[in-house]
Amino acid sequence: MTEMLFASQQGRNIPKEDKIFGINNRAKAMIAKEGKDKVVNATLGALLDDKGDLIVLSSVTEVFRNLAPAEFAEYAPIAGTPAFREAVKKDCFRNYEPKGFVEVVAAPGGTGAIKNAVANYADRDSKILFADWFWAPYRSIAEEMGKGFETFTFFNEERKFNIASFEEKVKALLQVQDRLLVILNTPAHNPTGYALTEEDWKGVKEVFGRTPSDKKITLLVDTAYIDFAGDEDEYRSYLPVLEEMPGHVLTLIAHSLSKAYTLYGMRCGATICIAKDKAVADEFKQVCEFSSRSTWSNCAKAPQVILTKIYDDPQLRDRVFEERKQHRDMLISRAKAFEAAAAECGLVTVPFDTGFFVSVPCEQPDAVCAKLEEEGIFLIPLAKGIRVSIASVAENICRMLPARIKAAMDSL
Ligand SMILES: Cc1ncc(COP(=O)(O)O)c(C=O)c1O
Repeated sequence: MTEMLFASQQGRNIPKEDKIFGINNRAKAMIAKEGKDKVVNATLGALLDDKGDLIVLSSVTEVFRNLAPAEFAEYAPIAGTPAFREAVKKDCFRNYEPKGFVEVVAAPGGTGAIKNAVANYADRDSKILFADWFWAPYRSIAEEMGKGFETFTFFNEERKFNIASFEEKVKALLQVQDRLLVILNTPAHNPTGYALTEEDWKGVKEVFGRTPSDKKITLLVDTAYIDFAGDEDEYRSYLPVLEEMPGHVLTLIAHSLSKAYTLYGMRCGATICIAKDKAVADEFKQVCEFSSRSTWSNCAKAPQVILTKIYDDPQLRDRVFEERKQHRDMLISRAKAFEAAAAECGLVTVPFDTGFFVSVPCEQPDAVCAKLEEEGIFLIPLAKGIRVSIASVAENICRMLPARIKAAMDSL
């Protein structure tokens, strides 16, 4: 933990630089020195083409370029424009029609959506729960707001979702706190690429059903990568289960336009609530608007208008979906190449379905990554292994990487 000189620490673990961006900077420095062909930069969670350039959907760029000044210069309402909030529902649910009361509050990206959920559905000094393979900002968002966290073991020995560990942690936390926020990132989980199966979801529902009904559980599903997982309807088949949760469970979704619309830098997303009760949905909007107002105030209007225009024009929407599908297919081919090469050289990965990342369990992740960096291969060391961003390297690199990782692991 870095000690502060003048700033107030408040128990937060504040590193000198963000780990992922730090490694990415080292990769960039090496590229500048040695040339692009000497470096593999599989660090960032952004989809790059085979030459290492950011993929930006041209259909989305076209809408952006044609925005009228008032469509980006004006303040948007705190919760987002009414048209955006309707478009978010369509984008999130597609063919599924929720039976509950749905409310939407705009946020700057999925990060903002998660922040508003943590701000309002976890008590100060309580712990939120997520898997032991997790996206690091879950932890810093919790710490930032004076909340702790606990992890459950994501996978069991059979390489399946560890429902026993999930139940143990849910129950233990509910013995000492009355309110619990649980975050599940699925499908195309970061950092493993796992997607909860129908059976996993059934298990989650049953676990919640075995908790005391006077407790308050909020389930936040982080769907940041959903539209890069595979067929968009198929990967939404879990939605009905969310509405079958027991009465003391409220479901929220953290929706993001960053990956799906390649609008990473525009900072747009939303927290979505599906409540059984209108009063709970109304309260969700009230508390999230309050939190937004006291942090970022209103969100950028331009991406809200972009999404609205896409959903207002079926032809445009089809173009965006088709363009995205092409890139998704490319990502899936990279994943298949990595998986096949890993099987060939005997490199064990964490259970994977699809997504931007594959993870490799490893006891010395820092040492292995340092060794690979010497060879010009930049990956992310995590607490329990190594994260490889297949989203940012070409298929031939995905084919070559497993053997190099295995060799580095074996050499230590
Ligand atoms: C697991 C996960 N959740 C949420 C996000 C939110 O991203 P953004 O705030 O850019 O929409 C990301 C982005 O990397 C992520 O990896």
